[in-house]
Parts: sequence; C-alpha cells; structure tokens
Amino acid sequence: MKVSKSAETTAWTGLITIVCALCLVFSIKFKADRAEGVLQQSGDVLDGPAVLQINVAQPGPRVSPMLYGLMTEEINYSYDGGLYGELIRNRIFKDDANVPVHWSVVQDGGGSGSIALDTGEPTGAELTTSLKLTVTSAAGHERVGASNEGFWGIPVQPNTHYRASFYAKAGAGFAGPLILTIESADGAAVYARAQVSKISRDWKQYTVTLKTGNVSPSKNNRFVLAASQPGTIWLNLVSLFPPTYRNRPNGNRIDLMQKLADLKPAFLRLPGGNYLEGDTIATRFDWKKTIGLLTRRPGHQGPWGYRSSDGLGLLEFLEWCEDLKMEPVLAVYAGYSLKGEHVAPGTALQPYVQDALDEIEYVSGDKNTQWGGERARDGHPAPFPLTYVEVGNEDGFDRSGSYDERFAQFYDAIKARYPKLQVIATTPVKRRTPDVLDEHFYRTAQAMERDAHHYDNYSRSGPKIFVGEWASQDIDRPWEQPDKKGPTPTLNSALGDAAWMTGMERNSDIVVLESYAPLLVNINPGARQWAVNLIGYDALSSYGSPSYYAQAMFAANHGDTILRSTLKGGATLYESVTRDSGTGIIYLKMVNTSGTAQPVHVDLIGATTLAPTGTAIVLSGTSPRDTNSITDPTRVVPVTREANGLGNHFTYTFAPYSITILKLQTDRAP
Ligand code: AHR
Repeated sequence: MKVSKSAETTAWTGLITIVCALCLVFSIKFKADRAEGVLQQSGDVLDGPAVLQINVAQPGPRVSPMLYGLMTEEINYSYDGGLYGELIRNRIFKDDANVPVHWSVVQDGGGSGSIALDTGEPTGAELTTSLKLTVTSAAGHERVGASNEGFWGIPVQPNTHYRASFYAKAGAGFAGPLILTIESADGAAVYARAQVSKISRDWKQYTVTLKTGNVSPSKNNRFVLAASQPGTIWLNLVSLFPPTYRNRPNGNRIDLMQKLADLKPAFLRLPGGNYLEGDTIATRFDWKKTIGLLTRRPGHQGPWGYRSSDGLGLLEFLEWCEDLKMEPVLAVYAGYSLKGEHVAPGTALQPYVQDALDEIEYVSGDKNTQWGGERARDGHPAPFPLTYVEVGNEDGFDRSGSYDERFAQFYDAIKARYPKLQVIATTPVKRRTPDVLDEHFYRTAQAMERDAHHYDNYSRSGPKIFVGEWASQDIDRPWEQPDKKGPTPTLNSALGDAAWMTGMERNSDIVVLESYAPLLVNINPGARQWAVNLIGYDALSSYGSPSYYAQAMFAANHGDTILRSTLKGGATLYESVTRDSGTGIIYLKMVNTSGTAQPVHVDLIGATTLAPTGTAIVLSGTSPRDTNSITDPTRVVPVTREANGLGNHFTYTFAPYSITILKLQTDRAP
C-alpha cells in the first residue's frame, strides 16, 4: 500500500506514540515489579552521574583466599535424587516399614506374582529388610518382576553404560535367569538389557553393565529386575549408576558437579545445616554410620521429611572436595537437635566431643592414626586439608541456653589436640572467644540491598565472620510453603545477592568465608522443602539461576587485594573493587538495581596507566522477574564484551537491572 507523506508522518507519529506509551507502561511495570518483588529505591531517578573514586595508591587489606565457597546438606533431594549418582530410590527398602515404596510389581504377558518387604531374610547387620519377589506363574515370554521408578524417573542417555549391582538370593527351585532392563515407564520401549543367568541360594552380590544404543534422552523410565520362571528371589541394595564425575565408583552426577566446579568454590561447608543436627539426637548426622561399605550404611531419617541413603557419606563429601579442589569446612554435631533435645555439657557431652575429635582425625589425620587408618582402609590414605571446624549449627535456637558451655567444651578439646584449627561458633558465646562466628541471612532482595554496608563499620577486634548461609528470597518463611515461589531465584534476587556480595567482598578482611544456601533443588513436585534455591534439576538436566551466575561471576573475578572506593550519588548502585597484585588487573564490580541505565564517572586515584580497553562481564535483564528454568535455562546469563574508552578517569554506563564486572588492566601492580 502506498502511503502519502502526511499519512506516513501521521503513521510514524502514531507509532512513536504507541512505543512511548508502551515504554511508559513497561517502565511503570518494572518499577512495580521491583516494588512488589522487593525493591523500591528512592534513587531510581538519578539527579546526575554518580562518581566512584578508587584508591589505587594505598591498597587495602587482602581478599580472603577462601571467601567464596559452598554450603550443602540433604534438603530438596540434594544428594539422593540429586548430586549423588544413584538412580534407584529406596534401594535398601527402609524408606517405609510396611510397603516397598517406589517399587511396583511387573506382571507381563500373563505372568503373575507379587512383591513384598521381608524382614525374615536379612542381608546383613544393617540391611535388615529385603524385597521378596514371588513369581507364581511365568513361562516363555511372560515375565514377573520388580520395577523401580527412580527419583522422578530414570534418566536415559544415548550410548551410555549403566552399572547395575544388587544382592540376591534364590528360593528352592528357582534356577534363573534374572533379566535387568532400563525401559520406558509403560514398558513399551526397552533401552538397555542385561542378564544374570543363575542366582545362588545364598546372598551374593551381582554386577552387570547395561548399555543404551542411539536413543533420544528421556526420563520417564523405570528399572526392572524380572524372571520368566516360577520361584522366589530376595533382593537388596539394588543399585544403578550412570557414568559419574571423574568416573568415581559411588560417585556424583556429572552435570551438577560441573556446575559446582564453575562456581570456583574454595570450600564446602558440610554436612549442613539442619541435616547435621537432625530432628532428634538419634537422627543426627552420625558420621560413623556413613563410612565404609554401602552394606554397612543403614541410612537415616533426615530433618527435611525423607530418609537419606547415606551413600553420599563423610568420605564422599571429602572426595567431592578433592574433585573440585575445595577444602572441607567441617561441621561437627554439637549436642543439640532441632526438636529441642540437647546433651548436657560435661560428662554426658564427652562422647560427642570424642566423636568430633575422631571425625577430625578421619578427615585430616595421618594414615597411622586410628581414624586416619580407617579412612585409608576406606580407600583414601592421604589426609585432607582442614583449616576450619564448625561446632553445631544455628545453636541460637537452643532454648536451654546450653551452647555457651557446650561450645567451650568442644573448643577446649579441639584446640588441645589441634591448636592450629580455626573453631567456628554458630551464635555469639561468652566463655571462649571463637576464631570465627557463623552468621545467617535469609531476606528479601530489598533488605539485602539496604544492608549491603553491614560489615563496613563492623568491629575488627572480635572473631572473623563466616556468612555460612544467606540468600535473597522473595518469600518470608521459605520452608512453610516451599512450592509457592522459586524453585530458583529471579534476577531480582540476584541483584539483591550481588549487592550483598559487594559488601562481603569489600570487607573480606573480616568476612573470611561465605556460602549461599540452599545450593541444590530437585524441581519435581513434592521434592522441595525450601522455596528458593541456587541450582535446579530433574532426572535428566539442570540449570543455574540468575543468582547462580552472579555467584560464579563474583567467585571467578576478584583480585587478592581490596581497593578502597567511595561512591557518591547513585543510590541504587553497589560496588566492590579488588586488584590482582600479580597481573595488575583491577576488578570493578558494580550492581545497578534500578530499571534506569546509570552513568558512573570513575576516578582512579594514584593509578599508573590504565589500558584504554578492558573487559565487561554483564548479567542483566529487561525485568527483575526474568529468570531461568529447566525449560528455559539460559534466559539470564552473563555476557562478556569489550569495554572501551577507559583511562584513569572515565565514564561507564551500567545497564538497568545489571551486575557488571569491569576488568581493567593497569600497566603494573604497585
Ligand atoms: O538452608 C536451609 C536451612 O536454613 C538450614 O538447614 C538451616 O541451617 C537454616 O535455618
């Protein structure tokens, strides 16, 4: 259609009006998003460029070399159904005392039979319940078996080897074979198959490999052990592993380990969290029951509503550290459990103190010590590095007020035997001065931003600080309605996280360790106990949230020295500046929490010459509600680009809703 000049002008004017109106609507909406979702900053409208002065002439204190780390525990199916490679759910049949949950009977082609728990055929001292598979009738192509549904499915990948193992014992008259298959949940497609031709009359372990062909990845699958002859077979410790990170037997899932490796963590706080404490003393993380052969691990009821297999036990935690070149920050059970039980300080507490000393020896002792020797027999002769030991978890909740004394008893015993270890308290204490205090913050993004200067004027004469759990969350009590928000944070939360992290990094002379929590979440309905978590996954794939990428950016890009900085103007800006004394690179981190692009004039005071070109790594979005998900995993990811026009005095415009790291090259480190 031909458009006349005046009509064209009118059309353009109309179009511009519509675009402006849309911009206004979007801008109002973005601000509303921030307001509801958590941030409403008076500084959204700027009255002039902000000015950032960086003192390069007098470098500040050093950045803690262990600042960025990981916090972990069994919550949200983090290990079983998560990081731990095991694909079989309820492998030792203790998840429920009455029925073989997550197992079903398979009766195909006219075969008939049943499955049931059996405590009359124990496999060993800890494997006290087995699964009895009764094949009443089967012949030819008929089959009767037991199928496991996995953790919300069994992942199938093309051309992949799966290692299956199980304990079995045949009743009189059953001659085998037993057929193992990985197949679709309805049994219509078989992806991999293996056979054990004969089952002994005594308990014996069998191991086979199942290999998939050139199939498409899928997760709506099951694992089946079946027979085509009448008889009875008892089964226990039924296991199926895909390839694991670094091919460790009993190892971890590769995609999740890679995501954790990309966070470049310096430490792993283990084993929790509430998971350390347990609901009761009897269900605490009792580390001695989590080591050695899997047949010696009974598993235990965790505090987050499900049983833990303890397949990922103390040694596996340590090997996880080794694989990612992290140090363990070892949390020892300190005599308090979540439902209020506590152990009285003094004689009653002594066995628990001894358990902690044994645990420290298992981790860090020479192989000639008692527990170092046990570790060597478990397959790891070399001791692990250990600098920090934490006594308990969130003992401020212990209404008995016993922590002060309990801490003193642990502190004295640990220091007497390991004077160089740094001992962490979980709440302020009076009888002893802890080396480090663990502080936790779960708050809205807005509250994180408001408090980003928390440690700027903090006393430097008391204990160092471990911010052992923290996260910006758009929900008040994330454990009460875990399915209401999340499962992973939005960009809004990532902005709050990043603002908070600038404060920790700027003050990392006192904040020596920090770890976001919770780390992992299985996103399937019913799998989650905490609303907002860093990394999400199902049986087949995983993704990092915007907060994950903020973490990764911060941990991978910092120097070894803090540079003092002063920011004038820009109420929605948060900054931290460090420098690498080896390379001379200055890392300028800037968080812009507003929906407006913000120019900042940067003055380097006392710098030698700054290269005119640097690098900008930017995480941003068009709305604070932007997020990633299992089906849209890379909507908010960092982008790296060249930064030009740099010098000792330059102006840089920080994008709306952005986290930016400018890598600035100085000609030499002073
Ligand atoms: O991270 C979730 C829980 O929050 C931890 O288990 C506990 O320490 C805290 O209260």
